[in-house]
Amino acid sequence: MKSGPETNDSIVLKTASKESLIKFGPFEEADFDPNKTAMVADSFSVRFLPKTARAEQLILVPRGEAAKSLKVLEQVYAGLLAMAADRSWSLMAVGGGSICDLAGLAAATWMRGINCILLPTTLLSMLDASIGGKTAVDYQAYKNLIGVFSQPAMVRIDISSLKSLDKKSMAGGMAEAVKHAVLGGKAMLDSIENAIAANGSVKTEKLEDIVKESILFKKSVVEADEREKGFRSILNLGHSFGHAIEAASGLPHGYAVSAGLGLAFDLAVKRGASLAASGKVKRLLKKIGLPTSLEEARLEAITLSGAIDFGDRLRTNISDPDSFVKAVEGSLANDKKRCGNSINFVLPMDIGQVKTELLSIDYLIAFLTA
Ligand code: GLY
Repeated sequence: MKSGPETNDSIVLKTASKESLIKFGPFEEADFDPNKTAMVADSFSVRFLPKTARAEQLILVPRGEAAKSLKVLEQVYAGLLAMAADRSWSLMAVGGGSICDLAGLAAATWMRGINCILLPTTLLSMLDASIGGKTAVDYQAYKNLIGVFSQPAMVRIDISSLKSLDKKSMAGGMAEAVKHAVLGGKAMLDSIENAIAANGSVKTEKLEDIVKESILFKKSVVEADEREKGFRSILNLGHSFGHAIEAASGLPHGYAVSAGLGLAFDLAVKRGASLAASGKVKRLLKKIGLPTSLEEARLEAITLSGAIDFGDRLRTNISDPDSFVKAVEGSLANDKKRCGNSINFVLPMDIGQVKTELLSIDYLIAFLTA
């Protein structure tokens, strides 16, 4: 598969290792060779497989974070072996971020690397996991501990696959779009504000533009620093508190990042950031239906615990505010990106302006409990 020039329907992400083609619109037959493509999907995303895909070349994996384990990775390898997939084969991920992360790692390591094609089917995975070549599985209590940077050969973004997503899932994806806009600047944030209807949902006619702007922003960051030696870490905005909230509550990633972003603004304001910017972003997140504080995150976790896809993620400590805060503090203290007793924290100082500071975990915990 050759990457063509950038057009309105495609974006080329160029790094030292590869040119990745990001194509918009429905999957085309020319995108893959069905005889030599293994596919990874789950019981939900299987409906988005290309029509010419071969059922016997499908590897079914569990839904959500449960797919990101060494055990499931081994199942993917076993499937590839059973198909006698050699270096001329491709591995296609059809699903959300967990499937993109898992299949990306399998493709990067199978026979020292085969082509990877990503078909993200959630808004979150279109904006985040499918862009930038981070692949990983979780290990023990830690997310994304085992993985490599490996750019996919192609990403196919079909906005129509989002039609089947419920409002809650779309809202989770919008948290990453808002995060990109806080980093990208006022014009991006204004686009998102204009794209949100009075009921908090994304206006259908604006969705593709929002996705494209967000991907173009992430592309610019990844092209500048593919392996996160420094600059790319701005994408961790909202993630230090966000990951701790996700681990403590089981909230879906986008919801936890939204609460983490709200808290990061609160902390930044204490350290001289723009109060107006903080208010603007938090109002937008709330309008979309996302949490912006620890307590809102806890209440959202309780609400979502009734949802079919959330039940088994429920953490018992969400029923009591004090034990929830304790659990968040415990997760923060175990942050895998900690440097000794501190965390490189991304502070949003204004729209389009962040700074990274080494802040002690004790200071961050004191802030959470203040
Ligand atoms: N999800 C953050 C990154 O790709 O760097």
